[in-house]
Amino acid sequence: MTTKIAPSILSADFSILREEILEVVEAGADYLHIDVMDGHYVPNITIGPLVVKSIRPVTPIVFDVHLMIENADKYIPEFANAGADIITVHVESCPHLHRTIHLIKETGKKAGIVINPATPVEMIKPVLHHIDLVLFMTVNPGFGGQEFIPEVLEKVKQAAIWRKEMDLSFEIEVDGGVNQHTAKLCKEAGVDILVAGSAIFNEENRKKAMDTIRNA
Ligand code: DX5
Ligand code: ZN
Repeated sequence: MTTKIAPSILSADFSILREEILEVVEAGADYLHIDVMDGHYVPNITIGPLVVKSIRPVTPIVFDVHLMIENADKYIPEFANAGADIITVHVESCPHLHRTIHLIKETGKKAGIVINPATPVEMIKPVLHHIDLVLFMTVNPGFGGQEFIPEVLEKVKQAAIWRKEMDLSFEIEVDGGVNQHTAKLCKEAGVDILVAGSAIFNEENRKKAMDTIRNA
């Protein structure tokens, strides 16, 4: 199976967001990764439901909405109504993770969990049979353009083993510092979806950048 690419619009030019999105969609993006930050859970503020709603008519591509916020439960229905297809929440910011996953599912959307580089992989194990996707942060969340943390790949490998042992089908995604070099390591570890922001949007030729990462 070919690796999916999810460009992160965090590194796009927001003054021409529609064109930026269409360019990567037409260049063969599989999902569009949308980073939601609240300035509390992470030290940055980005996109809210209003922006998700306004870009929804631009393209039918899968919206992969990554919530880096406190009190995610409160905002899940709003992001679902705004047009998210997949909603992912951090295991570190959701004290009642099982409940939060089911809140997402009640909206009819796909549910994913996100785990930070320093969090033990065992945190995800009890809920693996409830989710559609696991997102491994390969940087500390908050900003684009950071350096890939290779130790996370051991956790990716463990998740791939559990998936097989438990006969499950959740997708494995990585986010942060993905470029043509690190993408290769991710694929070898069992990653299905590569999120990339700066490695795509900072390049003049986005199609070439995406193809290079996909075929790394
Ligand atoms: C970081 C975000 C990422 C970010 C990745 O907190 O979750 O999605 O856009 O950016 P790059 O690919 O530049 O590391
Ligand atoms: Zn992200």
